Amino acid sequence: MAAELIDGKKVAADIRENLKKEIAGLKAKGINPGLAVVLVGENPASKKYVASKEKACEEIGIASFAYKIPDTTTQEELLSLIDRLNNDANVNGILVQLPLPKGLNEKEVMNRIKPEKDVDGFGPDALGKLVLDEPGFIPCTPHGAMKMLEAYGINPSGRHAVVVGRSVIVGKPLALLLLRKNATVTICHSKTPNLKEECLKADILCVAIGRAKMITGDMVKEGAAVIDIGINVTPEGKIVGDVDFDAAKQRAAYITPVPGGAGPMTIAMLVYNTVQAAKMQAGIKIGL
Ligand code: GUN
Repeated sequence: MAAELIDGKKVAADIRENLKKEIAGLKAKGINPGLAVVLVGENPASKKYVASKEKACEEIGIASFAYKIPDTTTQEELLSLIDRLNNDANVNGILVQLPLPKGLNEKEVMNRIKPEKDVDGFGPDALGKLVLDEPGFIPCTPHGAMKMLEAYGINPSGRHAVVVGRSVIVGKPLALLLLRKNATVTICHSKTPNLKEECLKADILCVAIGRAKMITGDMVKEGAAVIDIGINVTPEGKIVGDVDFDAAKQRAAYITPVPGGAGPMTIAMLVYNTVQAAKMQAGIKIGL
């Protein structure tokens, strides 16, 4: 039986639509959410992501402040820009698109963003709160993956979830979010022996490894929910995920497409975090 498609594009559009209404209400109270987007250098994929983020902001009424600066920017210059944005009352959220050009220290830059403006949720305050199960900004891509599961009534509680990939911005936070929802979680990575065996245990299989079609159809358990977080460009210029979609959909019960799955959800959760940041900075109590 072919899997049901998890339509991330649609779930993301619904989230953005609700936010649009909420933003209109905030504006009526004099609260104008604003996001600063910092892009250093000319990475083509980063340029594309940043353009999508700016468009999403514009469409729902968030002011976006673009800082497109050359790859000759020094660490000191970048840190001084972050300091300026940290102190700018019109900026509720700060996003520095990664990866940064060689020579710049990403960790130091991320750590410089004020926790209350860290809408990417990559800094130590946000990640610490995630571990502690305290309210805080949740990194957008894993948050989006959880929202897709929720939208399709896939409850992780008591299920076996396997996360393939252990990055700080996707794999690790996603494993914690699944754990928070009472899944039993396995994290697999490049040194995991018997990856296939581990994947076959997954009721929920989430893949963020960054290699095209790394997960083949025979690695998917019958009836699993498959969340593909990979975005890879083939030599022919086609965008594909980390999962062999055509083969996996024959075995899965649910599967996300690439494109149209995790990508739009990441952007929806970024604008969600920005609205939360604006509310918080205006003194409105929020749950996050
Ligand atoms: N690079 C790839 N994904 C992301 C993301 O979600 N946020 C930022 N800042 N950079 C990225």
